Amino acid sequence: MGDIQSITVLGAGTMGHGIAHVAALSGYAVQLFDLDQGALDKGLEHINKAMQKGVDKGKLESEDMQEALSRLQVSNDFESATANADLVIEAVPENLELKSKIFAQLDAALSADVILASNTSSISLTKIAQACKHPERCIGMHFFNPPHILKLLEIVQAEQTSPQVLEAVRQVGEKMHRHIVVVKDSPGFASSRLGLALGLEAIRMLEQGVASAEDIDRAMEKGYNHPMGPLKLTDLVGLDVRLGIAETLYKELGAPQFAPPQLLKDMVAAGKLGKKSGEGFYRW
Ligand SMILES: NC(=O)c1ccc[n+]([C@@H]2O[C@H](COP(=O)([O-])OP(=O)(O)OC[C@H]3O[C@@H](n4cnc5c(N)ncnc54)[C@H](O)[C@@H]3O)[C@@H](O)[C@H]2O)c1
Repeated sequence: MGDIQSITVLGAGTMGHGIAHVAALSGYAVQLFDLDQGALDKGLEHINKAMQKGVDKGKLESEDMQEALSRLQVSNDFESATANADLVIEAVPENLELKSKIFAQLDAALSADVILASNTSSISLTKIAQACKHPERCIGMHFFNPPHILKLLEIVQAEQTSPQVLEAVRQVGEKMHRHIVVVKDSPGFASSRLGLALGLEAIRMLEQGVASAEDIDRAMEKGYNHPMGPLKLTDLVGLDVRLGIAETLYKELGAPQFAPPQLLKDMVAAGKLGKKSGEGFYRW
């Protein structure tokens, strides 16, 4: 497995452009691919703005910003965007069929030593890897939103992932200044499973009138030093998104703590989705 120098990111949405931002700043040559030219334009604009904010705050040298931008190219041509990649990080919508199709396409087009990573937050990497003739090159690289601020990288090992691929991806994560956790492919990985357990319990406590939303959050913020309480965080992630993950984990793990609370279902049905809809456990 050669030294990784060139990274292609597939999908320029919320996560894809953020991953491209971090990769370019970390010294990699980056190709950012999306089918939608509008998404590419927006992604590039977001990257520019976020980097400029870093410069204005004195956290990033203007020279480093210019160099990073010169290493970054956007493209809506799949073939040329992937041709020179040592590592591809897929960040297209959360859909097994779509991801499997893209992995099969990459697997057929690229030499067997190119690593194929997915930023999926809930789909089994072992299942995605099944689309490939060289499944040992598949792995999960789960970044957090927004990647230039949140430094966690959850590396997800599919059953088929080779130790060499794990090691190469770990080195990329270190070069990207990530805090790395390695997890076996299992529902919710480590981060979503733990985060959701806390979030759902907080909703059940609110439902049972144990305390107000503010006080439940304050208990975690001030007593356990969480930067943000579980209900506020649920508002930011989106109640519908959390409900979807809860339903999946409940089905796959069968553990009662993942049964979606009635209050969560009612709020989603009423369109109270959190920050994006203007109201969740708080008004935004
Ligand atoms: N949003 C988050 O907070 C978050 C956090 C961690 C992981 N994730 C995961 O990251 C992935 C992407 O999520 P997102 O929130 O960035 O989605 P998004 O909808 O913001 O962006 C997806 C992008 O993929 C593009 N796309 C669709 N089909 C494509 C194709 N065939 N080829 C190339 N591009 C294509 C779309 O045009 C869009 O720009 C998902 O797997 C999601 O679960 C999301």
